[in-house]
Amino acid sequence: MTEANVARLLLFVLAQVTFVMCQDADALAKQSCTQVKRDVFEERVAISFFFANAPVRWETIDSCHGSRPLIVGGTPAEPKEFPPMARLGNRDRNNDTKWICGGTLISNRLVLTAAHCLYSEKGAVNVVRLGELDFASDQDDAEPEDFVVQEIIEHPDYNYQMLYHDIALLLLDRAVKFSVYKHPACLPFVDGDRSENFIAIGWGHKKFAGRESTKLLKVKLTNFGTRCLTSTDLDELPNGYNVSTMLCIGSPELKDTCNGDSGGPVLNYHDDYPCMYHVMGITSSGIGCENANVPSIYTRVHYYLDWLRQELAKSR
Ligand SMILES: *[C@@H]1O[C@H](CO)[C@@H](O)[C@H](O)[C@H]1NC(C)=O
Ligand SMILES: *[C@@H]1O[C@H](CO)[C@@H](O)[C@H](O)[C@H]1NC(C)=O
Repeated sequence: MTEANVARLLLFVLAQVTFVMCQDADALAKQSCTQVKRDVFEERVAISFFFANAPVRWETIDSCHGSRPLIVGGTPAEPKEFPPMARLGNRDRNNDTKWICGGTLISNRLVLTAAHCLYSEKGAVNVVRLGELDFASDQDDAEPEDFVVQEIIEHPDYNYQMLYHDIALLLLDRAVKFSVYKHPACLPFVDGDRSENFIAIGWGHKKFAGRESTKLLKVKLTNFGTRCLTSTDLDELPNGYNVSTMLCIGSPELKDTCNGDSGGPVLNYHDDYPCMYHVMGITSSGIGCENANVPSIYTRVHYYLDWLRQELAKSR
């Protein structure tokens, strides 16, 4: 081997090592986000002229576009607009289902939700529906599919009735086949402090539209920053609002909508992929929905990234 070649080889090895060392956890979150976007929205197609032995070129068709303008006040979601949205329920022996909470798909096996959803008087969460839009219609442009909950993973620091660490995961009985109707939200790359607005979605929350809606609804909400420090006085928060682990989000206008489903996501659009979302928060407490300018508390997902990564690794 010539000296130049040895030098080249050394450089190559060094580059590889640097590459591997740069695979920090955030890089992994970015990678899996990009992978989902590719799997669902990109298609490799052969392009050729119509004569014999014409050369074939491969091109990627990318159908990831079209984030929708958001409207303050609740409006029905469009078909395929929120593929990570899950609904959690209790299904009894007679196959009657009571819907309890919302959730967010974050991998092909895991659904993120609020830990308090596991303590519903309606029963244990044992079923998850994905790909649904309107519960009252089977003619809507949706592909609903039910999954059995195989394992419930509550955050170890959660303590029922307190609102701290209100985060949990559900392991589904089988892998979700990703499509434009069902695929995960990306984990947050940032903590959400700099986001001006969020999108909350849901069907069920009493305070979302005054009553349960059969249609999935969306609402644009505003980041209230540290305002919850002074506006919150709850028995469930004996140590007060926690800036590190919670987000304070509300609506500046008096609307009949102020929240998503408990356990459901507050989302931000991905900066580069308009077809993808980050799950920034989990709807935790719907206090003060009757009043404009009184924010609610959401679990800040970014704070729990290490725990989420551990559970994601275990589920694979
Ligand atoms: C139970 O209900 C679900 C959803 O409505 C349906 O897909 C499933 O086939 C039903 N199972 C039985 C055993 O009736
Ligand atoms: C907020 O929560 C974190 C995690 O539980 C804790 O370490 C921190 O002390 C809390 N901050 C306050 C001000 O209570």
